[in-house]
Amino acid sequence: MLNSETQFTTAVDQDTFRDVISNLVSGVSIISAQREDERFGVTASSVTSLSVDPASILVCLNQRLSITDVISETGVFAVNILGEGHGDVAIQFATGHADKFRGTTIRHDGMGNPILADALAHLECRVVERKDFTTHAIFIALVESAVARPGSPLPYFRKSFGRFIED
Ligand SMILES: Cc1cc2nc3c(=O)[nH]c(=O)nc-3n(C[C@H](O)[C@H](O)[C@H](O)COP(=O)(O)O)c2cc1C
Repeated sequence: MLNSETQFTTAVDQDTFRDVISNLVSGVSIISAQREDERFGVTASSVTSLSVDPASILVCLNQRLSITDVISETGVFAVNILGEGHGDVAIQFATGHADKFRGTTIRHDGMGNPILADALAHLECRVVERKDFTTHAIFIALVESAVARPGSPLPYFRKSFGRFIED
């Protein structure tokens, strides 16, 4: 196996990789966390279910994001899974601003993380492990609470938000 401390290069250039991997349709979530009175949130498509026993997920966050340090410090975060029509929320949380939560209805989960009341579902997560790889931190976390509401998801495909149609 390759050593993850190595400086890697591959034959696939960045633009080609971005274009090709954008064919992988994903859900869209807002990862949220809180440090004292300060809330943090970031749009993420990298949330993946890891195992059901124990309930666990992984999420990959750029190491330069403040929320990445906050999650490392507090050891907890929430995943707010966005629903149909939440493309504007996804853009809002992907764009730098002093108050990314503006215009949203927030409550707090049992761990103190801010939760978007309108999300399709949310998970309360406790970090078990952080692994850094080049630009990103990979968090493995236990899911300590999971709640979903009726509704449809927000799919992301080829850099656009869409709608899910059941066959
Ligand atoms: C649909 C979508 C999915 C994204 N997924 C991720 C992700 O999984 N991990 C990540 O680090 N950044 C992801 N980003 C980028 C971050 O949301 C963005 O860099 C961040 O919110 C910038 O925050 P800042 O301006 O406060 O630094 C995604 C952006 C979009 C629009």
